[in-house]
Amino acid sequence: MKRVGFVGWRGMVGSVLMQRMREEDDFSLIEPVFFSTSQAGGEGPDIGGNTGPLKDAYDIAALQEMDIIISCQGGDYTNNVFKKLRDSGWRGYWIDAASALRMDDDAVIILDPVNRSVIDEALNKGVKNYIGGNCTVSLMLMAVGGLFDQDMVEWASIMTYQAASGAGAQNMRELLQQMGETHNVAKDLLDDPTSSILDIDRKVVEKMRNEEFPAQNFGVPLAGSLIPWIDREVAYGQSREEWKGQAETNKILGHADHPVPVDGICVRVGAMRCHSQALTIKLKKDIPLERIKEVIAGSNEWVRVIPNEREATTKELTPVAVTGKLDIHVGRIRKLNMGNEYLSVFTVGDQLLWGAAEPLRRMLRILIE
Ligand code: HSE
Repeated sequence: MKRVGFVGWRGMVGSVLMQRMREEDDFSLIEPVFFSTSQAGGEGPDIGGNTGPLKDAYDIAALQEMDIIISCQGGDYTNNVFKKLRDSGWRGYWIDAASALRMDDDAVIILDPVNRSVIDEALNKGVKNYIGGNCTVSLMLMAVGGLFDQDMVEWASIMTYQAASGAGAQNMRELLQQMGETHNVAKDLLDDPTSSILDIDRKVVEKMRNEEFPAQNFGVPLAGSLIPWIDREVAYGQSREEWKGQAETNKILGHADHPVPVDGICVRVGAMRCHSQALTIKLKKDIPLERIKEVIAGSNEWVRVIPNEREATTKELTPVAVTGKLDIHVGRIRKLNMGNEYLSVFTVGDQLLWGAAEPLRRMLRILIE
């Protein structure tokens, strides 16, 4: 059995990974070893058996004993430890949720339902670093990867509606605190059916603009508002989240040398853990809508095409409908007024599952089967 080291298993992505691995009985196939950056010697997670005391995640000698290491600890940890470990001569497989190594030449971005052939080719060549993709990109490709695979896409413009979870666990808590505060300030007026909606609105806005409003993590209110900028600026007014759209999509698909243009605006909204995306796709030629739906529906077993009707869309094509599920919902599929080569698609996926934890555990399976 392969010895598999886990780092960052207690955080949000790590916890989802542990949960999925328990559900799929992955632990029975490996010898798991749990590490900690802060509580070496403490107790590991409950995986239905004794896991022994936690090892120190900065102990290079202890890490060297692993055949495979899976890190959900974040980029700072990867930047601190990875190079030292490789320099020490370690030749094991490194699977990472963080973006630190993602664009390196000796790393593959893993999303096996979309790029299994790219992964297999890399394994044959001896590549040892397998990195989870940006959640938005992974969810977009889980939804419409079939269109890219069939070489139908000339370019794609993607407008995102990204959940609080993408910014971290503290941000999810802050979103709920903000919701609570805005409700509290308006509660008396809300309870009075004769009160004026404009008075309610004024109170809520005053609260949100108050310096005391809880916004330490987002920096600004998100509840009752939105934030049309995610991550730092890369160049020419494009955010890093937007930059990843083209860079990672083409790297995942294995054609970074002749990239399909992908760009758009990434926006944070007050959803909990599902990212939604509105896509405008310029097709290479006019393809019948039925054929497009067939390709999307057939591209992997998790895609669910939602009929482009009001009832189905409002019930099924939402974060509330999708959250906690591996299903990727894809709907609003129609041709746009601009012409028959212009396609609209809306998709929703759980940012912590396919967007983060699931590709990691599946990569582990590929390595041990
Ligand atoms: N960068 C993403 C977000 C999450 O902020 O929503 C991780 O891929």
